[in-house]
Amino acid sequence: MSQVLLTGGTGYIGSHTAVELLKQGLDVVIADDLSNSSASVIDRVEMICGKRPAFYEIDITDKKELKRVFDENDISAVIHFAAKKAVGESVRLPLKYYRNNIDGILTVLEVMKEHGCRRFVFSSSATVYGDSPVPFTEGTPLGKLANPYGRTKYMCEEILRDEAAAEPECSFVILRYFNPIGADASALIGEDPRRGSANIMPNLVLTAAGIKEKLSVFGTDYPTPDGSAVRDYIHISDLAEGHLAALRYAEENRGCEVFNLGTGRGSSVLELIESFERVNDLKLNVEYAPRREGDVPEMYAATDKAERVLGWKAKRGIDDMCRSSWLWGREVFK
Ligand SMILES: NC(=O)c1ccc[n+]([C@@H]2O[C@H](COP(=O)([O-])OP(=O)(O)OC[C@H]3O[C@@H](n4cnc5c(N)ncnc54)[C@H](O)[C@@H]3O)[C@@H](O)[C@H]2O)c1
Repeated sequence: MSQVLLTGGTGYIGSHTAVELLKQGLDVVIADDLSNSSASVIDRVEMICGKRPAFYEIDITDKKELKRVFDENDISAVIHFAAKKAVGESVRLPLKYYRNNIDGILTVLEVMKEHGCRRFVFSSSATVYGDSPVPFTEGTPLGKLANPYGRTKYMCEEILRDEAAAEPECSFVILRYFNPIGADASALIGEDPRRGSANIMPNLVLTAAGIKEKLSVFGTDYPTPDGSAVRDYIHISDLAEGHLAALRYAEENRGCEVFNLGTGRGSSVLELIESFERVNDLKLNVEYAPRREGDVPEMYAATDKAERVLGWKAKRGIDDMCRSSWLWGREVFK
């Protein structure tokens, strides 16, 4: 494998994947417009790995700029992370989401094709399962999608299935992520809680740092053991390792294949809070709020396909996720 292009590679998942790939000796090129990340991530990735990825500050929907990246490098595979991902914003500004996420994947696929690049790994989401029954297997019929963000992921998957049928020499791997949390053990990179997110971990960190007065738990009357929502939290470093396995798979196989990247274990929001408080020896101010529209009671992955076919399995538990999240959070706010 020559070079791997990570679109959106300075973002949360992309930066951890860059670290994993560099540690494994792969040559990494990052293209990101920094709309939801910072260029300092490149320095930090270099501090962790002792190797610096090539970096292009470009909008990947700009075809001319993206072609330049391919012209100046020898890219044999792309991991396409770049996308807008805030569910609430996607409801308010659907066109922004369709434009960025759909235009983004089309531009990347077209430029890849023009340059004879045949391996593509895509960041999809467990959100495409909608309200289907758990555990979600890759064969579970996709459920009702709750928002434009989720629909962009579904549409991108359909584009890839069509393109795979038309291009039998190419390889497309769709990764459906569950709930990535945690941070690299170095505490040099992580999900930036200052960027504002509806996800639980950035809000746990903001509350622990005293920036947010109270942590809201949305829904306490779900049909789950403790009434709070159940999610399949996966350590970001496990998720990053999953990308390496997916790249290896794309090297050796053709067609379009879907894999869940989760742990296969559901943890409730209250369990996550308990773990965070215990491992970090602190107490959070928690308030109980009504359910949020569009949230499903529980989601967790069936992981046997990823284990069997990719030879990948998540290793880290929620205590590890909570510890590393706060180590990183303390760095951010120190
Ligand atoms: N974090 C999650 O919980 C989660 C779950 C499921 C799927 N995903 C998907 O995984 C991918 C990565 O997510 P993340 O959490 O790292 O998000 P992130 O926002 O931290 O990273 C995305 C990166 O893409 C960049 N970007 C966005 N549009 C771009 C464009 N047009 N041109 C160039 N760069 C652009 C942003 O600046 C950012 O650095 C996304 O596709 C997201 O939808 C994330």
